[in-house]
Amino acid sequence: MAVALRALLRPARAPAPARLLLRAPIRLSSAGTQFQYLMVEKKGAKQNVGVIQLNRPKALNALCDGLMNEMNQALDFFEKDPDVGAIVITGSEKAFAAGADIKEMQNRTFQECYGGSFLAHWNRVSLVRKPVIAAVNGYALGGGCELAMMCDIIYAGEKAQFGQPEILLGTIPGAGGTQRLTRTVGKSLAMEMVLTGDRISAQEAKEAGLVSKIYPTEKLLEEAISCGEKIAGNSKLVTAMAKEAVNAAFEMTLTEGNKMEKRLFYATFATDDRKEGMAAFVEKRKANFTDH
Ligand code: HXC
Repeated sequence: MAVALRALLRPARAPAPARLLLRAPIRLSSAGTQFQYLMVEKKGAKQNVGVIQLNRPKALNALCDGLMNEMNQALDFFEKDPDVGAIVITGSEKAFAAGADIKEMQNRTFQECYGGSFLAHWNRVSLVRKPVIAAVNGYALGGGCELAMMCDIIYAGEKAQFGQPEILLGTIPGAGGTQRLTRTVGKSLAMEMVLTGDRISAQEAKEAGLVSKIYPTEKLLEEAISCGEKIAGNSKLVTAMAKEAVNAAFEMTLTEGNKMEKRLFYATFATDDRKEGMAAFVEKRKANFTDH
């Protein structure tokens, strides 16, 4: 594990009060902090967007265990940082991620997988309370596509390709591919992708509702950070409620989801930020949210 990674993580592990954790010297420089498999840094004019860049180029960012452990640590870190209002996950120009590490999986037995809940920790991304944007250039295959789908928003570079090719390896998606993809693009396209292993282009992914925007390859990250800055400029408290409400649409019936939405809507009236937002509108000025 790189020295800088240990320095980055030390505060989060120390048994100290939360305020101290956040003030501990954390080495997040504009040049980036070098994990073994990730580049992690804060970006944006106000340094309020956490960027996690997969950095395992020789294996096209295949998601080995070490990489996913680091991903979870980086997410924990940004989740605790009160200045960070959104997180961007990205890869390289060639690959967002080419899937789970096949070489690492190759000799696993059923007993090891089932008994050890193999890859169960992969869903951390879907549990983050702050908004997460996937900026996908190149391949997003298998676990890579699943990782993108665990994020809240997917932006794609114009040459991105999405696919669930596990069937070609004699297995099936195992981190939500059959579930999130089907809910997002519908049964026919999901079935086609999962049963043939065929990939879809960025344009097809946009038409199917898998990605919300497509940008030129070299502009993608900048645009994703800019979206993150927009989100981070709103109330972080109310943003978390909005995210929770939208996510309920994937978990609940319409009646239950609408009830939950209404409860969260009412809850915004207990916040200073709701008062400030409406006062600012009436007074024709920009709202100054304090996340209270
Ligand atoms: C391990 C991988 C890898 C992977 C690529 N590499 N994908 N290593 N696991 N998933 C490695 C290759 O072995 C090679 O290293 C190097 O990356 C470059 O890959 P090439 O194949 O030479 O590149 P290219 O010809 O450009 O082809 C790119 C590619 C192809 C189309 C993306 O690599 C590919 O099909 N990869 C596998 C994609 C896949 O099946 N993903 C699903 C995995 S299963 P070396 O050192 O050998 O030259 C999965 C299940 C998730 O994700 C379950 C979650 C619970």
